[in-house]
Amino acid sequence: MKTSETKSLPKKNGSGRVVFLDGQGELPMLEVSTPWSTAEIYLHGAHVTRFRKIDETPLLFMSQCSRFNEGQPIRGGIPVVFPWFGMREGLGQHGFARVKTWDLKEFVPAPDGSVSIRFRLPDCPEASGIPPFLAEYVVTVSAALELKLSVTNESKDESLSFENCLHSYFEVGDVTAIAIHGLKSVKYLDKVANFASKTETSDAIRIASEVDRIYLDTAGAVEIVDPRLSRKIRIEKHGSVSTVVWNPWITRAQQMPDFGNDEYQRMICIETGNVASNQISLPPGETSTLRVKLSSSPLS
Ligand code: BG6
Repeated sequence: MKTSETKSLPKKNGSGRVVFLDGQGELPMLEVSTPWSTAEIYLHGAHVTRFRKIDETPLLFMSQCSRFNEGQPIRGGIPVVFPWFGMREGLGQHGFARVKTWDLKEFVPAPDGSVSIRFRLPDCPEASGIPPFLAEYVVTVSAALELKLSVTNESKDESLSFENCLHSYFEVGDVTAIAIHGLKSVKYLDKVANFASKTETSDAIRIASEVDRIYLDTAGAVEIVDPRLSRKIRIEKHGSVSTVVWNPWITRAQQMPDFGNDEYQRMICIETGNVASNQISLPPGETSTLRVKLSSSPLS
């Protein structure tokens, strides 16, 4: 529940605007409006929880059971997974970036009506075991949603090894009716089959059971064709060679306390990053940038 409007900053130019609110759990949130769309972004995790084009169903799925607590991840939207993906012995799943309150550095309403917001991951104790780095995340809201995660290795002599992943949850009409295109002939690790190595044979992947796959060495765009919502979602990327496809299906959905038992039916995660054997090893002083553009169009 939004509780109060705390601050509204005037637009500098263009017609996009940003309003500061108390979001759910009283966590600080930004509400962004542009001529084409609205979005909501929490400082907790620099987490985009909502992107909606005017007169369209929201692009991103959000669980009705999500927690909104400091120290716990939000379920839905776009968790920022960094500096590791999956489990790390004793350190939890998917890194610490998604449960930290990011610093808001700047927001820029551009003359064309779009709005960009730049966040920086603050220093935190969990980062003490790895070389010093600077992580920044820029979210640009327009007719599309553009995301840019940059990591700079600030060490003078050590390489920085990490995984990154923008773990987008998409809203779909019926997960069993969608087709996922763009991964044919790509090798993947099948987490549901004990990380067996397989090759995708289908140009139109269908979901009819639990799916948890890490597609490797793939730089191409992915599309979700959703006949129930009569739309196509396009996921374009740069600086990423892994794509993860995840739907928990019935049993896992029931096991997750922050996810509704039936919610698997109207979501699919297509996650963009560099994980597993595609992890990044960044030399001292260099910057690695992951860019993702999410857009949608009506099915013709
Ligand atoms: C996916 C993983 O990226 O995230 C799955 O491939 C995992 O194995 C899912 O279950 C959700 O993870 P979490 O930590 O947000 O529950």
